Amino acid sequence: MRPCLRIVRAFLLSVAASAVVVPGVSAATADERAFSRAPYLQFSTTNSIYVVWRNDGPIKPVVRFGKSLNKLTGEVSNISESSGTGIVVRVSLGTNSETIPAKWRSLRTEENLKYRKLHSAPVGTFQYEVRLMDLDVDTKYYYAVFDGEKRLTPADESYSFRTMPPVGTRRPIRFWSLGDGGTGRQEQADVFRAMLDVTAREKHPLDFWLHLGDMAYGTGRDMEFQSRFFESYELALRSFVCWPTEGNHEGYTSKGMTGVGPYYDAYVVPRRGEAGGLASGTETIAVVASGAVERGKPQPKRPSAVRPARPSVVRGDITHGLGLARAFPSLFF
Ligand SMILES: [Fe+2]
Repeated sequence: MRPCLRIVRAFLLSVAASAVVVPGVSAATADERAFSRAPYLQFSTTNSIYVVWRNDGPIKPVVRFGKSLNKLTGEVSNISESSGTGIVVRVSLGTNSETIPAKWRSLRTEENLKYRKLHSAPVGTFQYEVRLMDLDVDTKYYYAVFDGEKRLTPADESYSFRTMPPVGTRRPIRFWSLGDGGTGRQEQADVFRAMLDVTAREKHPLDFWLHLGDMAYGTGRDMEFQSRFFESYELALRSFVCWPTEGNHEGYTSKGMTGVGPYYDAYVVPRRGEAGGLASGTETIAVVASGAVERGKPQPKRPSAVRPARPSVVRGDITHGLGLARAFPSLFF
């Protein structure tokens, strides 16, 4: 693994306590046989959020959601080519020149081959991406993933999220920011556990999570994302949105100029200013100007403005991300 110039950093930014209820980050996990990549949240706004997951082979995907754990009244179940109007499907079905496991050969149907392609996921992988729309602002929701009528996620309160508050809301926020985390070493687990412990002890959950890159050493391969990011952080990924940054190690297999690779398969970020701010036109650069601020207001016309509580630390990280390559994504506040 090529050493990085960055020093390993993992810090919690705690501005102040709030009265928000701690989400139940519990040990309850999805049925391991049900998912090849457990459900995780992406790209939240004041009135929408994505739920993404993978299965070995196709299912009849259904996401139900609602404001009560036991009353999931909303539902999305239709397949669509575009997010916002249904469930987007991406698949890995091999190629004609590739040896395909016998059990998946029958999946190479004309209909399945029309789906968008995953870059390098194991053959047989079906990835489902659902944008839940028309949600209430700053509101807690629960969700569950089904295969038809069969519930795949347990009825656990950790399968929940909170939509963003209106832009300009002035109240304390908390986010978890880390980089160079995807080593698979004990230190990665220790830092994660420390975050869970602090947020639980202080009864102040995350508002969001910002990853500064190098989340899947050594080269950001699909299998490295799976073990060193998705499985390592499964408990948090189902409750909080992780806004990603492509690090240099992800750059070995994912190309910012084309938006192709395991990194781009994994994440869903705004391209057209859907989360506030300017339209970037590419998933390589995500501009987010939504939600509460610690002080001041989001400055979408000045995206380089950084308003952290500890500017020296945060500015350093973001500057580093920008410095690696023009095409690297960054988040501005
Ligand atoms: Fe690194």
